[in-house]
Amino acid sequence: MALDLGDRLFAAAYERCLPDSPAAFAWRRHLLRQARGVTVEIGAGTGANLPAYPPVERLILTEPSPAMRRRLAPRAAAAGAELLDASAEHLPFAAHTIDTVVCGLVLCSVPDQAAALAEIRRVLVPEGRLLLFEHVRSDEPEAAAWQDRVDLPWRVLARGCHLNRDTLDAIRAAGFTLAELHPLELGMPGERYVPHIAAVAVAPSVA
Ligand SMILES: C[S@@+](CC[C@H](N)C(=O)[O-])C[C@H]1O[C@@H](n2cnc3c(N)ncnc32)[C@H](O)[C@@H]1O
Repeated sequence: MALDLGDRLFAAAYERCLPDSPAAFAWRRHLLRQARGVTVEIGAGTGANLPAYPPVERLILTEPSPAMRRRLAPRAAAAGAELLDASAEHLPFAAHTIDTVVCGLVLCSVPDQAAALAEIRRVLVPEGRLLLFEHVRSDEPEAAAWQDRVDLPWRVLARGCHLNRDTLDAIRAAGFTLAELHPLELGMPGERYVPHIAAVAVAPSVA
């Protein structure tokens, strides 16, 4: 495979930003307590969520970036998790076979968010859970306008991460119901401009 310097640099830089603040990690843990059965994490990165998982029937991590996967592989193995090269828009699972899907800071980065959410809905069992720790578009017009202004340079720096996506609307539009929604206060500088949420979305009861 051709050397992708951007991919390697981003993975190295991302890993240096981890672990999260204790407040952020506490929210990851709160969400992941709800993981059950066959659990798939989308875009698991360098494995920030791994220490927060309870025992589940089967834990499958997907990650399309070779550099992220290289860092993640030993951690996945130590945690007894499987690791697959797959993107959110094309999940290698049959329809309605997955009990829980986990997304951590990933719906900002997938190139086609609507396709990714449709694919997550396809693989989840009826009433399966989608556990989300994400940054989202601000409800405040001034902060949202700032997100729109800096989105392009941010996307270039952060390998496709969009600051201004209305991820909650997209989740509802994909047919999920929000069973829990927590706007987070993580004590981060500039938090007003990059609001985060923890949420639990439920797939429709009929496949
Ligand atoms: C900001 S990192 C988050 C990593 C990790 N989930 C976390 O919580 O720290 C975004 C991740 O999304 C992954 N990603 C980008 N496009 C993706 C896609 N189409 N499908 C699945 N993952 C994707 C990236 O490779 C990267 O690992």
